[in-house]
Amino acid sequence: MSPPGPDQVSLPEDVVVRQATGEDLRAVVEVGQRTWPATYDSIFEEGLVALFLEKRWSKQALIPSIRSGRTLVAELAGRVVGMASYGPHERSMALWKLYVVPEAQGRGVGSRLLREVMSRAGAVGREVHISFLDGNASAHDFARSNGFTVLQREPQGEMPDLIWMSRPVAEALSHEHDGRDEPGHNRDEIR
Ligand SMILES: CC(C)(COP(=O)(O)OP(=O)(O)OC[C@H]1O[C@@H](n2cnc3c(N)ncnc32)[C@H](O)[C@@H]1OP(=O)(O)O)[C@@H](O)C(=O)NCCC(=O)NCCS
Repeated sequence: MSPPGPDQVSLPEDVVVRQATGEDLRAVVEVGQRTWPATYDSIFEEGLVALFLEKRWSKQALIPSIRSGRTLVAELAGRVVGMASYGPHERSMALWKLYVVPEAQGRGVGSRLLREVMSRAGAVGREVHISFLDGNASAHDFARSNGFTVLQREPQGEMPDLIWMSRPVAEALSHEHDGRDEPGHNRDEIR
């Protein structure tokens, strides 16, 4: 792995968190394609998992967030093992996606991605919101251990409720980022 550049953040265990570029598109898709089923297979029926993958984890679905500079990747030993995407949401910042491939989970990669998002959040609002489908215990435990508290539960018809949690940005203003919304942003980007 090459040494971190000026826009990269060095982390323990050779983990590097950096902004994704178009060249990361395939790797970002793969993070979702591998992690989403492992996360939601026990909550959704197979057909629904495939539908979500197609809708939320296709190249087309991921390109806008990469283009807007709001997708981060985490590399471990030079390989992309995690991603996060974020953007404005109701005068706050939403962490729309946060995914670490199963074999790299539990090593602090998700927390490092979250820390970088928090550091970019101050320009947008005073809170960061995270949401996940009810039943995703690892997301709940991860969010709780990272200082998030439950904000609300959003019913979604036949699907499990969406659980929203929030955390104040407060101290995380280490560097400014232009977080203004851009045309075309919509909630469909979520997860
Ligand atoms: C949630 C996720 C991003 C966390 O990433 P990670 O790299 O595994 O998390 P970390 O190693 O940084 O762990 C941070 C904390 O969360 C806790 N945690 C992480 N995964 C957990 C799990 N499966 N069960 C219980 N606690 C968990 C850890 O105990 C740790 O707490 P600690 O610092 O007090 O020990 C990752 O597990 C993942 O990709 N899950 C599937 C996708 C998902 O649900 N994403 C969130 C939807 S928005």
